[in-house]
Amino acid sequence: MESDLNLMGDEEMANPAVSARRLLAGPRCRYYAGFQPPFYIVSRYKDVSDLLRDPKRFLSGHGQGPNFAHPVGVVSDPPQHTFFRNLVQQDFLPRSIARLRPRLTEIARELLDAVEDREVWDLHDDLAFPLPVTIICEIFGIPTDDLVQFKLWSDASVAALSSEDPALYAAELARMRDYVLTLLQAKRSGSDDGTLLTRVARARRDGVSISDDEAVGLVLQLFVAGNETTTSLITNFMWRMLSSENLWADFCGARIDIDKAINESLRFDPPLLGLFRTTACEVELGGTVVPSHTKVLTHYGAANRDPAVFDNPDVFDVHRPTRKILSFGLGIHVCLGAELARLEARVTLETLRARCPRLQLVDDGKRIGPFLFWGRRKLPVRNL
Ligand code: HEM
Repeated sequence: MESDLNLMGDEEMANPAVSARRLLAGPRCRYYAGFQPPFYIVSRYKDVSDLLRDPKRFLSGHGQGPNFAHPVGVVSDPPQHTFFRNLVQQDFLPRSIARLRPRLTEIARELLDAVEDREVWDLHDDLAFPLPVTIICEIFGIPTDDLVQFKLWSDASVAALSSEDPALYAAELARMRDYVLTLLQAKRSGSDDGTLLTRVARARRDGVSISDDEAVGLVLQLFVAGNETTTSLITNFMWRMLSSENLWADFCGARIDIDKAINESLRFDPPLLGLFRTTACEVELGGTVVPSHTKVLTHYGAANRDPAVFDNPDVFDVHRPTRKILSFGLGIHVCLGAELARLEARVTLETLRARCPRLQLVDDGKRIGPFLFWGRRKLPVRNL
């Protein structure tokens, strides 16, 4: 029933499939007053796709979250968006990413070596969290000596994105900005070491250096966008696999296609349940008139379960034929790191199945806090 929707209530936080079901049973565009400021939600696959392909009427520059923000880095609209995306995208093209495979395999092996003698370990803390942070640091040329600090900063960033009171996280986020600014300043002089950090530090637009705020903002976007999400892809995948003994055994016995299974995990358990656009003008959406300058949530979690597109959408089917899922967004803002995220997941899962074919869940662990995100921040497992 329409009025039941409560994105931040216990039931839907524990199982966002419930939100998806309620949204898909309601109007194509629904008003949601359970947040300050209130927003609208689109949930049908076609509506979400159409909206994401319409960046003139649905803007990114007011922020990806429910709160209004200023344009920063790639969270902006053309031409600013085009400039910043072009600046960083060469490092994320398929051929650049494919070169990372040996190093990713090495990181996964080292992390699993460290838990080899432990009967119980945590899939999040010991594997799914450190792997993406380490590789993104290496892509940038950022030291990897303080992963725990990075984790605290990433947590603060994602919490601020979904919070009614982002000021709560301001002090932590200011420390993160200072840290990145110091790194960038060090890269402005000296020889060009070819790292992404140096390219950002020395970027010029129309002949003028980009500002400190722009450089820091861009680095942080890439840093934060890829960590929590890829970690959640790995934990969500393993949670589903281990919740059914046969699935993990079949996966380890190579009876399941790894790419199809990753795609199904992304469809069924999207690490980002949705993100926001802001209307540039009054817009009519499925019979609802949305005023200008209003936030609209594109709910990937619901769109991925739209029965008009996916047969038996509420079934986790690792053999499902691959169809375009919306978990990485679409259009000009489509995820820059999708190739990297898929490779990270593939390498981690291949390494894990070779090393731990008899892995078991201890319990369901804990959910990540912010309502827009879906993943485990604890997932204890036992090596048999
Ligand atoms: C499973 C993991 C990931 C998921 C589910 C995910 C999801 C998304 C989504 C939904 C968007 C669209 C944002 C929008 O339309 O406003 C996006 C954009 C983006 N993602 Fe990812 N992402 C993942 C991994 C990564 C990684 C590893 C990176 C690495 C750097 C990354 C970097 C970015 C960036 C920079 C954007 C903004 C692109 C733009 O606005 O042009 N993501 N991601």
